Amino acid sequence: MIRAIIFDLDGVITETAEYHYQAWKQLAGEIGIAIDRQFNECLKGVSRMDSLELILQHGGVAEQYSDEEKAALAERKNRQYVALLQNLTPNQVLPGIRDFLRDARADGMKLGLASASKNARTIMDALDLTQSIDFIADAAVARSKPAPDIFLLAAEGLGLSPENCIGIEDAAAGIKAIHAAGMKAVGIGDAATLREADLLLNDTEKLNYNAVKNYFC
Ligand code: BG6
Ligand code: MG
Repeated sequence: MIRAIIFDLDGVITETAEYHYQAWKQLAGEIGIAIDRQFNECLKGVSRMDSLELILQHGGVAEQYSDEEKAALAERKNRQYVALLQNLTPNQVLPGIRDFLRDARADGMKLGLASASKNARTIMDALDLTQSIDFIADAAVARSKPAPDIFLLAAEGLGLSPENCIGIEDAAAGIKAIHAAGMKAVGIGDAATLREADLLLNDTEKLNYNAVKNYFC
């Protein structure tokens, strides 16, 4: 019996995944590391510090930076990212998401957010969506996806068992996290990246509440 739907944020509710990419690309460029969109796929869903580590490894320079220097680099990227977030308005909720949230709530579903982003609450406020979600799990207390922690925390916050929840994700690490939490997974994106999803949709426009409910119930 499905009683809750738990959303990822970046790349599912809004296209902040692109802002993350732009901010990392700028920072990486400043320290002489080139990243492209293909490499960026493995940063999706991954925490700020773990993303930095992957970029430094990609450039073969992970050993050259102290923990303090890494913290400063991550902070620099976040400043750039937060500056890009100033562009965010309620119009940037991805197609289909508002209708999905409205229909799910009208049907009595609980709604949760399981984002790895420490900026999640700011983003939800900017999108005018905070009232549409019952519980936002705190990224600070969880191990990074693909660990199940953030999805388990969201289920707990909603007062439900994981088997009563569905997770929706755009990242491979996120689908793994949902499954590790014992939930069914909806993937938003392409089959090459998200082949492990139980239900795969190309984009959020295809995300219809009744269709998802019928698929899993
Ligand atoms: C995830 C993004 O939602 O949040 C990652 O997919 C990002 O790309 C992570 O690194 C952490 O975000 P923030 O805002 O805490 O740096
Ligand atoms: Mg995402």
